[in-house]
Amino acid sequence: MLKGRHLLEPMDLTTKEIDEICLLAEKIIDNPKKYRNVCQGQILATLFFEPSTRTRLSFEAAMLRLGGSVIGFSDSSSSSVSKGESIVDTIKVISCYADIIAMRHPKEGAPKIAAMNTNIPIINAGDGGHHHPTQTLTDLLTIKRAKKRFDNLTIGLCGDLKFGRTVHSLVKAMLRYPNNKFIFISPKELEIPDYIKDELKEKRIEFMEVTKMEEVLPKLDILYMTRVQKERFFNEEDYIKLKDTFILDKEKMKLANKNMIVIHPLPRVNEIHPEVDNDKRAYYFEQVKNGMYVRMALIMKLLGIEE
Ligand code: NCD
Repeated sequence: MLKGRHLLEPMDLTTKEIDEICLLAEKIIDNPKKYRNVCQGQILATLFFEPSTRTRLSFEAAMLRLGGSVIGFSDSSSSSVSKGESIVDTIKVISCYADIIAMRHPKEGAPKIAAMNTNIPIINAGDGGHHHPTQTLTDLLTIKRAKKRFDNLTIGLCGDLKFGRTVHSLVKAMLRYPNNKFIFISPKELEIPDYIKDELKEKRIEFMEVTKMEEVLPKLDILYMTRVQKERFFNEEDYIKLKDTFILDKEKMKLANKNMIVIHPLPRVNEIHPEVDNDKRAYYFEQVKNGMYVRMALIMKLLGIEE
């Protein structure tokens, strides 16, 4: 039962629960009209202590398409936090107004503190460089629709693997399915964190780390591109040096398998040339749509709304 639970990191969901959420999302995709009033009278609060457009709007569109309502803020400077209110107090107050909260915070662990201080479901919409479970659900639904499976896949993750929370969340989710292989493509400075490598080693899951994408492209079923996370750098110079390390273009796509899919959590900066957008292997805009539908399914499940 998902009713009343929090979603702080992807591992909070069993693989069976992930299947159920994806199944409901696909039912909504097939017949959105059927669901347009199911959340009538319910309120989602979106508390974004860190800037975001698409994730916040995705949550809001999801709730509105279910017939529910939305309150919240998109910038902590416009909330009482700017008056010095603690996150615990903010959450206690908002819990009196809303039925469910989606929150994004620059500090790792902030959604967990929130969850400990409320009796309504908290959805982590991104906490620092830590996790972003609803992006993972978005990625998983996209993989499911394109590949029809979550196992026996070779997954290349490219770009900022150090700070990219969506990368951390997706690897943690995908390592639970059998026979997946991971290829981490990044400059040395932006390598995947040790704690993730340690877990892969411990579970004897195959992975490799490379600094060039050309050599591995032909092996991939999925290419997960990410932007270099500018806001997590301590100095601009380091960011400038690394920002254009990888640019996926038409030429590189020629090296890839004809069934490979390219996904990206967006926003894209330079890492995928717009000329790739028309390639039928480019799934990143489709992925955005999936994100809204999977959030609709998640909201319904956490609120305990029956189909
Ligand atoms: C991602 C995030 O916020 O971590 N974006 C998103 O949720 N759509 C990826 C990113 O910002 O690069």
